[in-house]
Amino acid sequence: MKKNVLVIGGGGREHAIVYSLSRSPEVGKIYCAPGNAGIAQLAECHPEIKATDLDGVVAFVRSHGDIYLTVVAPDDPLAAGMVDRLEAEGFRAFGPRANAARLEASKSFAKDLMKKYGIPTAAYEVFTDYDAAAAYLETCSYPTVLKADGLALGKGVLICADRAEAMAGLKEIMLDKAFGSAGNTLVVEDFLTGFECSALAFCDGKTIVPMTTSQDHKRALDGDRGLNTGGMGTFSPSYKVGPAMEKRIYDEVLRPTLDGLNAEGIEFKGVLYAGLMINGDDIKVLEYNARFGDPETQVILPRLKTDLFDIFEACIDGTLDKVDIEWTGSCAVCVIAASGGYPEAYEKGKEIEIGQLDDNVVVFHAGTAMKDGKLVTSGGRVLGVTALAPTLAAARDLAYANIKKVRFDKMHYRTDILKEL
Ligand code: AMP
Ligand code: GLY
Repeated sequence: MKKNVLVIGGGGREHAIVYSLSRSPEVGKIYCAPGNAGIAQLAECHPEIKATDLDGVVAFVRSHGDIYLTVVAPDDPLAAGMVDRLEAEGFRAFGPRANAARLEASKSFAKDLMKKYGIPTAAYEVFTDYDAAAAYLETCSYPTVLKADGLALGKGVLICADRAEAMAGLKEIMLDKAFGSAGNTLVVEDFLTGFECSALAFCDGKTIVPMTTSQDHKRALDGDRGLNTGGMGTFSPSYKVGPAMEKRIYDEVLRPTLDGLNAEGIEFKGVLYAGLMINGDDIKVLEYNARFGDPETQVILPRLKTDLFDIFEACIDGTLDKVDIEWTGSCAVCVIAASGGYPEAYEKGKEIEIGQLDDNVVVFHAGTAMKDGKLVTSGGRVLGVTALAPTLAAARDLAYANIKKVRFDKMHYRTDILKEL
């Protein structure tokens, strides 16, 4: 019998997860909370239930006797223990429990784990006291990197060129609490150079299976200028990471991370994401996430041949070693269409037009909603155009040819994703 699934979240990542699950012959009805206008074409959306509403989600699963599995995709509900809550009620859930999600939710926890288990990362110091941090910033070398300890929507990282910038950043994080209680603890780490790569892997607590590689473009504007965003474009696979480097990422980062967590008595089931900085032969972990990346998922899952539902099942049951995870030979590129002004203030409610898309192109919705029967913008990152083709250059050209068919007032997108190819 087919099984019904609830997906928590409402962005492009969740649209890509719902899209993959909808292709599984084992999956019946899909529910999504809160979802968005694109997801609503494949799933029954519940905009009244926010992704962070633990009580609401548990009550929803309890009242719908027909939900077999809940997939918790975003960081906040994972860190808050949504999987723990569902399991405590006897429900099946995909994602790490709160103790394992700390890998993302606390940067000092992640850094200490890396230090203890010899996982390569930038040298760092942790401070809970403003004066001690200020004294350290007098003597450290520049540029330096300040990180608020907790979840801060990807914004709690400040790269400071000199001491004056660092002192201003320190005040912002620890005194003004610009990122709320995330700023009670501060990590100061060495500035690294190189290229960034996302290494995602499925984990069942014992086995860790790397996904195909991908790369994100985090700055808002062409030429990596402008502010850091949640991600403006991705491609997969990363042409900069060959098989030898992939093996090193497994041996030196992914495997030891899972082993280290196990040694600490923490079982990690779900998606482990290591954000890496690679410079020549040097690999260093910038951060961990305890979930699928957004918009990495929009280029990774369309390349997955294996049934995603089967992989989720194996992660929960501890049988990942029995699953053969296969990828298609095609390449994928995703370009994000954002609201003008994002990641700072932007307007919502702009009507969106999407023309006739070419084959091998999917639009994953992120910040969209239906209003009076019309598709409108409702967030900073509005949608992502993912294109698949035999080469990265062809996928890039197809993505750009199709993003031109998307229109809304003040739409902004980067024009330089993979320009170098
Ligand atoms: P994080 O949330 O830790 O990934 O940081 C966000 C972004 O800040 C990363 O994707 C990098 O672009 C940048 N970043 C973080 N840590 C460092 C570092 N130690 N050196 C240089 N850039 C960094
Ligand atoms: N694309 C970066 C992230 O999901 O955190």
